[in-house]
Amino acid sequence: MRIVIRIGGSVIASPVNPRLINQYSKLLERLRNSGHEVVTVVGGGTLAREFIRISSQLDLVEEAQDWLAIHVSRLFALLLTLKLGLDNTVPHSIEEAIKRLEKDRITVMGGLKPGMTTDTVAAYLAQKTEAQLLLKATNQDGVYTKDPVKHKDAKKLDNITYHKLAKLFEQNHHKAGIHQILDPVALEILQKTHIKTVIVNGYDPQNVQKAIENQKIGTVISPEQNLNKSTA
Ligand code: UTP
Repeated sequence: MRIVIRIGGSVIASPVNPRLINQYSKLLERLRNSGHEVVTVVGGGTLAREFIRISSQLDLVEEAQDWLAIHVSRLFALLLTLKLGLDNTVPHSIEEAIKRLEKDRITVMGGLKPGMTTDTVAAYLAQKTEAQLLLKATNQDGVYTKDPVKHKDAKKLDNITYHKLAKLFEQNHHKAGIHQILDPVALEILQKTHIKTVIVNGYDPQNVQKAIENQKIGTVISPEQNLNKSTA
């Protein structure tokens, strides 16, 4: 199966967690050795945000701030690439990522261009490589009805459709501080692509493995026609 794994910078890089990066490298290798093709996208975490802050203090325009964050994400992509024993470069475009995938059956990239997030990069890659599954390894257990940090009655959803998730985002739009678990631009691409996405807690890479094995974990986001039971 062709899988896209989006590893949150919040998970492996905030602060940098070499033990976890090592565990992810082992997981990616295991997946490839068991016959999967693995497209990985990593973010830049707090270091990327620190560079955004610094460049903003230097009055650099937003595009320049984004480029710095992209370079930081590429640095983490390179770290994982080298740990995997692959070439010492990181793809800078979807085409380069696909070439690497064809050659090594595994590819790791960071950001693509200013004005987007690595969620969107992962969604584009899923679309272009016709992947069957996108996994987002993040710092929450899945999608909640409300911000779980602020609301004790927030309920984790086991399943949701893209359509209902978009509605949930609209409802929460004006509530300051709600962390959008999936970038709305990425959501739109994935909805059109009819790909299944699973959001899991990335602090334990086993959760990614479980999602691939179709075990009950995190939140499954499905295109409308593929969902048998709805919980939201
Ligand atoms: P992300 O918010 O996607 O990274 O990108 P992350 O660290 O993995 O985030 P979590 O773990 O989901 O919280 C960080 C920033 O990098 C720039 C944007 O400024 C974005 O907010 N970026 C990233 C781009 O400009 N283009 C890209 O293709 C990717």
